[in-house]
Amino acid sequence: MTRAISLHDVSKAYTRGVRVVDRLSLDIAPGEFLVLLGPSGCGKSTVLRMIAGLEDIDEGVLLLDGGHGNDLPPSERDIAMVFQNFALYPSMTGRDNIGFPLRIEAPGADPRPRVDATARMLGIEDLLDRFPGQLSGGERQRVAMGRAIARHPSAFLMDEPLSNLDAKLRNHLRAEISKLTRELGVTTVYVTHDQAEAMSLGDRVAVLRGGVLQQVDTPRSVYALPRNVFVAAFIGTPRINLLRGLVRAPLDGAMTLSLGKQFLRLPEPLCLDHQLLRVQQGREVIVGLRSEAVRIASRAEARPGEVPITGLVEHVEFQGHEVLVHFNTGSRPAVVPDLEAPRPAVRPVRRRRREGRVLDRLRGRAGALRAGPVLAADDPEPHGSVSRGFSSQGSAPQGAAVTSPDGRLPGDLVVRTTPDFDLRHGMHVPLLVDLAHLFVFDQHGDRICPAPDRLPDLEE
Ligand SMILES: Nc1ncnc2c1ncn2[C@@H]1O[C@H](COP(=O)(O)OP(=O)(O)OP(=O)(O)O)[C@@H](O)[C@H]1O
Ligand SMILES: [Mg+2]
Repeated sequence: MTRAISLHDVSKAYTRGVRVVDRLSLDIAPGEFLVLLGPSGCGKSTVLRMIAGLEDIDEGVLLLDGGHGNDLPPSERDIAMVFQNFALYPSMTGRDNIGFPLRIEAPGADPRPRVDATARMLGIEDLLDRFPGQLSGGERQRVAMGRAIARHPSAFLMDEPLSNLDAKLRNHLRAEISKLTRELGVTTVYVTHDQAEAMSLGDRVAVLRGGVLQQVDTPRSVYALPRNVFVAAFIGTPRINLLRGLVRAPLDGAMTLSLGKQFLRLPEPLCLDHQLLRVQQGREVIVGLRSEAVRIASRAEARPGEVPITGLVEHVEFQGHEVLVHFNTGSRPAVVPDLEAPRPAVRPVRRRRREGRVLDRLRGRAGALRAGPVLAADDPEPHGSVSRGFSSQGSAPQGAAVTSPDGRLPGDLVVRTTPDFDLRHGMHVPLLVDLAHLFVFDQHGDRICPAPDRLPDLEE
């Protein structure tokens, strides 16, 4: 049996007046694998715990198979939860750990057949007689999963079950979880802050920020049509390039998106999406270009829909099968605060004073924006000392300022390319931007190009 889980305007506040989950509505279909994705502290575990009945719902309604579930005790919800930290009883063998909930549910019954069947399914028959202390992390997590599966629940709730494991094992178990839940056909709500995990596992991905649902869609849609700049920046590796732009739409000339020192000329006749940008004339916008939307090629090689710019090579990241090239195009990067998890626990020491002020401003803004619209942070200096937060591995926390050590401009555009190019720092390179993959967001961070689905009166 599998079950439908619905949340209608569900809110939760631990401190009066501060909602950590804010009017969340989600309909999860029977058998669906839904991933809750978002940065640390955005309320993912709280949502899961409310569904499990481990946390009271302050406002709103939880429906389990259409029935009111708010006040149902956890034991009557027929839902199994898998936690990040395995949560096994150290003094019990694997067999007893898996069988424990079965013995509680049906005290007289022999749990062995179900435990054995579950162990076979997970390939852990050989581990049943060992204690948790005698198991590796991955094996422990399998036993924990076994304990959830053996109950034959009608839904699984998994709270970052793989985050304590190394990357290889994580990938392996990820594939197993996907296979297993599909075979069992049980509704699964899976929490993670890892967008790659979310994209590879979910039938749909629900992106949360500051307790507010930003978008719920298929992995393909959240990548290709992110509703706002936060979703665009949270999903995809390397992170989408976000540049501050200005719409110029003169009545008698070509429409352009100015990117500081360069511009993107929108080809005539304007497509519908670009026509709709006209109303933004003179306004600042955020231009989003994924690393695959730009290629290294000369103007003469441009295909229809591609427009030229140039870039100065700042940094080259060799990744084996591909290369990520960080260019400086003279544009100003837009910063999306409150983006990355985990939050820095320790403030870096000996930070330059001015840089510190910039960070403080960004942090302050991040706080103010929780659960609110997403904005591009102001570039604090004429030439920009704040980058999108790339380290050489491309993994520095977003919102952190990175200034190149010798004071040069940091790269503002990352382009994915094949390893064939012999690119070196300081080279000027011709680039072609594919406008079919252009995103434009307004100052509130909402996507305006490609145009949102629902634009009444503007479709004709
Ligand atoms: N029992 C509690 N009392 C007070 N505040 C809490 C409690 N549990 C969680 N919070 C707060 O609620 C917010 C959401 O917490 P939650 O654990 O749901 O986040 P999360 O998205 O799961 O984060 P992470 O990815 O770090 O696990 C956080 O700001 C957290 O500090
Ligand atoms: Mg959590």
